[in-house]
Amino acid sequence: MHTILKFLFSLCIGAVLMPSTSCSQGSASAAADANTVRTDSAIVIDNILNRRSIRAYTDQPVERQKLEVIARCGINAPSGMNSQPWQVCIVDSPAYIDSLTAIFKKLQPERAEQPGFKNMFRNAPALIFVASPSNGSGQVDCGLMGENMVLAAEAMGLGTCIQGGPLAFMKNTKECAPYIQQLQIPEDYELLYIIGVGYPDETPDAKPRDESKVKFID
Ligand SMILES: Cc1cc2nc3c(=O)[nH]c(=O)nc-3n(C[C@H](O)[C@H](O)[C@H](O)COP(=O)(O)O)c2cc1C
Repeated sequence: MHTILKFLFSLCIGAVLMPSTSCSQGSASAAADANTVRTDSAIVIDNILNRRSIRAYTDQPVERQKLEVIARCGINAPSGMNSQPWQVCIVDSPAYIDSLTAIFKKLQPERAEQPGFKNMFRNAPALIFVASPSNGSGQVDCGLMGENMVLAAEAMGLGTCIQGGPLAFMKNTKECAPYIQQLQIPEDYELLYIIGVGYPDETPDAKPRDESKVKFID
């Protein structure tokens, strides 16, 4: 087993074996509380390791309540000095997505002819637009918030795909300008990425990860 995998494996085992440090609450026994904490730790790690970008979705719309939970998890990400340098705009309107897709189809018909194509946002029925200050600050913070949202979605059985390409298409296509306008992003912010969200209709394998990118220095 590679070093990183060993590390992750030991983390998982550690999560399962580690005694609970939380205070017991209510009438539940301390042992029951400890069990809950152990299980939750393993679930969090599984959630991170099992997440994959999803580009095929069922037709089931995403409940607003779930989108709200995702957004709340996003804005609870850490940010430098709690500056919260983000703007988040959630769109689940089929009309919005279909109108942009019509523009996309006109300009890139070969992409729209690909099997399984439903819309230009990697087929997702709901979109989360994230913007950061136009002066370039806040991008780390916005990245952290994105991962929070993606993992929250995963935990609720939803699939996601972070998207730079479709946003670039929107920014570079003049017919898309009114749709960007509709998002009401403040003037001093610029759109950074989109997260497509929906109920997954595929279970892609993990793409390879380069473990040599991580080093421990003794
Ligand atoms: C900043 C960023 C931009 C991305 N843009 C796109 C995109 O435009 N289209 C797409 O299909 N996937 C996009 N992805 C998803 C990556 O392709 C994906 O995360 C990567 O291949 C690893 O696969 P995994 O997410 O399934 O582990 C983007 C991911 C990130 C972080």
